[in-house]
Amino acid sequence: MRMKILVTGGAGFIGSNFVRHIYRERPDWHITVIDALTYAGSEHNLDGLDKERLAFVKGNICDEELIDQLVGENDAVVHFAAESHNDNSLHTPWPFVETNVVGTFRILEAVRKHQKRLHHISTDEVYGDLELDDPNKFSETTSYNPSSPYSSTKAGSDMLVRAWVRSFGVQATISNCSNNYGPYQHVEKFIPRQVTEVLEGRRPKLYGSGENVRDWIHTEDHSSAVLAILEKGTIGETYMIGANGEKNNKEVVELILEIMGKDKTDYEHVNDRPGHDLRYAIDATKIRNELGWLPKYTDFKTGLTDTITWYRDNEAWWKPQKAETEAKYKELGR
Ligand code: NAD
Ligand code: TYD
Repeated sequence: MRMKILVTGGAGFIGSNFVRHIYRERPDWHITVIDALTYAGSEHNLDGLDKERLAFVKGNICDEELIDQLVGENDAVVHFAAESHNDNSLHTPWPFVETNVVGTFRILEAVRKHQKRLHHISTDEVYGDLELDDPNKFSETTSYNPSSPYSSTKAGSDMLVRAWVRSFGVQATISNCSNNYGPYQHVEKFIPRQVTEVLEGRRPKLYGSGENVRDWIHTEDHSSAVLAILEKGTIGETYMIGANGEKNNKEVVELILEIMGKDKTDYEHVNDRPGHDLRYAIDATKIRNELGWLPKYTDFKTGLTDTITWYRDNEAWWKPQKAETEAKYKELGR
């Protein structure tokens, strides 16, 4: 079926990778991106895509009238737009409440009115964290227990979606994905920060002991999972997305240094993040069994090498963000 799809936050890291994914995989679909172009978004992330198949609207998801109009004009909405960085949320929480909670409310009211399909993008961070030796992983039935302003506002947005499904029959699905890596990720995030620190001749910076574990997934695998849910998912259901990519931060930094031809011990420890979640781990059995989804980037070293090559080749993309980002971290002693 030819679909008209509205992608919120489609000029950000995961959103723009998803737009490129469906542009390639579903050549008969028309895509409209709405993005406020905050510090985290750039229209250049969509460069090279044909304007006949992709419309770009600069706008805020909290803008009731604009959202009503755009949702009315499309068949389905994939909702990525969010304030996404934990460190920023600890410093300046209001934009997180506004975009993640109020913005999601606006989307829900519009899809309710126009009876359109919604897929809501969320994070595994809504479940809190796990002990390092806990044999359990997060699954669709794990209780919510968010730690930070970021994760609590994402949890709030998920709760709104669940309530709008149950109370108003909104046709929505939710996915909770683990940490993404890949091209176009802002240099404030862990992997791009370390890679660009090395490219600028400085040392990677580990928060605290570096023992915290994240469950890494290539953004391309996140995109294919979201497309599978959009096309084959059951309305009202939640799907965990993950690719068995658990690594502690120290291991990731050592691998970056090794791939970049540096001494594996050439990093420094900096101040820890307050309330720093210890470990995330995803059980993705449901999406594998019910929708037949499988990740393609199963070798982290290969995916990481590709990502490092992208940052090496695209200095003009990340340089303008770098000095300002490091100045913010310097203030925090991180
Ligand atoms: P990002 O910060 O790179 O991109 C967010 C995009 O949303 C930007 O383009 C920004 O301009 C836009 N935006 C922000 N506020 C807006 C508003 N009020 N109106 C319209 N646009 C607005 O984030 P990301 O890492 O690509 O994350 C995308 C989504 O995926 C988020 O919902 C996030 O919670 C979720 N997620 C991220 C990860 C991860 O590892 N980064 C993992 C799981 C889930
Ligand atoms: P981040 O990319 O901010 O993602 P999240 O907080 O959503 O998991 O950080 C990933 C992990 O890396 C997290 O444990 C914090 C840690 N980290 C560092 O050790 N050094 C850094 O410079 C940054 C930005 C993060």
